[in-house]
Amino acid sequence: MDDVTDDALLEELASLLGRALLTGAGAAPHEVPWRGPAGRALAIALPSDLSEVRSVVHWARRTRTRLLPQGAVTGLVGASTPPPRGPRPVVLSTDALNARTEVREADAVAVVDAGVRLSALNAEAARIGLELPVDLAADPSVGAMVATNTGGSRVMAHGDMSHHVLGVQAVIADETASVIGNLRGLRKDNTGPDPTRLLIGSAGALGVITAVAVALSPIPAERSTVLVGPIPDTAAVDLLTALRQAMGGRLSAFEVMCPAAVAAGVERARMSGDVTVGQDPDVLVLVEASGPAGCGDDLVEAVASVNLPDTSRTDAAATPGSGVPGAVVPHAEAWGLRHGITEGLRSRGEVLGFDLSVRPSDLPALRAGVRELVASRNPALTVADFGHWGDGGIHANVLIPAGAGFSSADTESLRHDVYELVGDRFGGSWSAEHGIGPLNADQWRATTPSAEVSLLTAAKDAADPRRILGHPGLPFG
Ligand code: LAC
Ligand code: ZN
Repeated sequence: MDDVTDDALLEELASLLGRALLTGAGAAPHEVPWRGPAGRALAIALPSDLSEVRSVVHWARRTRTRLLPQGAVTGLVGASTPPPRGPRPVVLSTDALNARTEVREADAVAVVDAGVRLSALNAEAARIGLELPVDLAADPSVGAMVATNTGGSRVMAHGDMSHHVLGVQAVIADETASVIGNLRGLRKDNTGPDPTRLLIGSAGALGVITAVAVALSPIPAERSTVLVGPIPDTAAVDLLTALRQAMGGRLSAFEVMCPAAVAAGVERARMSGDVTVGQDPDVLVLVEASGPAGCGDDLVEAVASVNLPDTSRTDAAATPGSGVPGAVVPHAEAWGLRHGITEGLRSRGEVLGFDLSVRPSDLPALRAGVRELVASRNPALTVADFGHWGDGGIHANVLIPAGAGFSSADTESLRHDVYELVGDRFGGSWSAEHGIGPLNADQWRATTPSAEVSLLTAAKDAADPRRILGHPGLPFG
């Protein structure tokens, strides 16, 4: 579109939305991704109900304007903000799509509009002792949690977002901007394959999610956290095995942090005691028990019964308080440290993020492999890894200091080789929980079997024949 046509078309869009359209400075917060360069949008559309979403989709179809669905801009693979170059899309923000937060106590189900934040849903659910047990460093919108199939720290106990979704309502970009899915909130409905499940993890490329029904769980009577370590990373695997045996389903998180990650997290957290950062390849482990009163004591006992290397026991005597083997740490402090890592790393320069998963027993070897690869490329680069070892997840992030002389071609080549390492040597995943976006689209194209690409392409043909939905850099967008 040229500028004259742009103005006329945007005027039309603005009138459809009762002028809920942002441009210029107002658009800026919707153009800047959490990580990476800012993009450029034609405008930000803010529909506030289902019928307005349909109008926007209709408009985009008719004018052949790319429409980029966006939640709270907390994604890490670049799918929710416009690209810095190329034709500018209209961003469809779900920020104003938040009228409904309906919690049904007897059914333990919530039905929420897509733009409702996780914190708002959980505040409402907490009034009746329920929660959506997804724990994240960010506060995303619930619709986008479904669109990205987000994971978080309690996947080992509760599964990723797909495990909580009972229904999705979405607008697709077919001729009539059809509404698909349902919000009945049934826990069982085995009436053939459910095509709306394809929306989970689709990053907005197959439809605009407008509302979701999710299963809620009772808030446990107790949640206790213990920091263990520093201990060798191989001992962390033994600890996981032992705690899983001892605690069963009450082990709700098992998070591992390397020294560089701990140092970054500590900067962002308010800790009442010292934290022993340690030295590579040692790691600090945050374990959480959730369950009936007393589960925290059981966790402490279980940790104490594991035969950890002597070095860590010495630390326990040297630094009582937090960050020592088996030290119970206030819940908010422990998670403040863990959730502060990504923010802390961001302030240290360019971060090349990796969101990998392997079998938990392979995590120490994967760590070593990534470090070896990174060191062979440029000695100025460092690895700050941390993650959800309980489910095999690890964010093996690479810090690229300014002036390292590491070009964007070098970055892409390193990205490719890390993906190859995790896939070929360990049979792991190159996108464990952050989903698909322009930052990892090439890998999707390179590794997705053609028969599976065909199936998704058929879905795309039905849901968006004019190819207007989703980030233009998505592989099936
Ligand atoms: C975390 C994000 C990076 O685990 O997924 O903190
Ligand atoms: Zn994570």
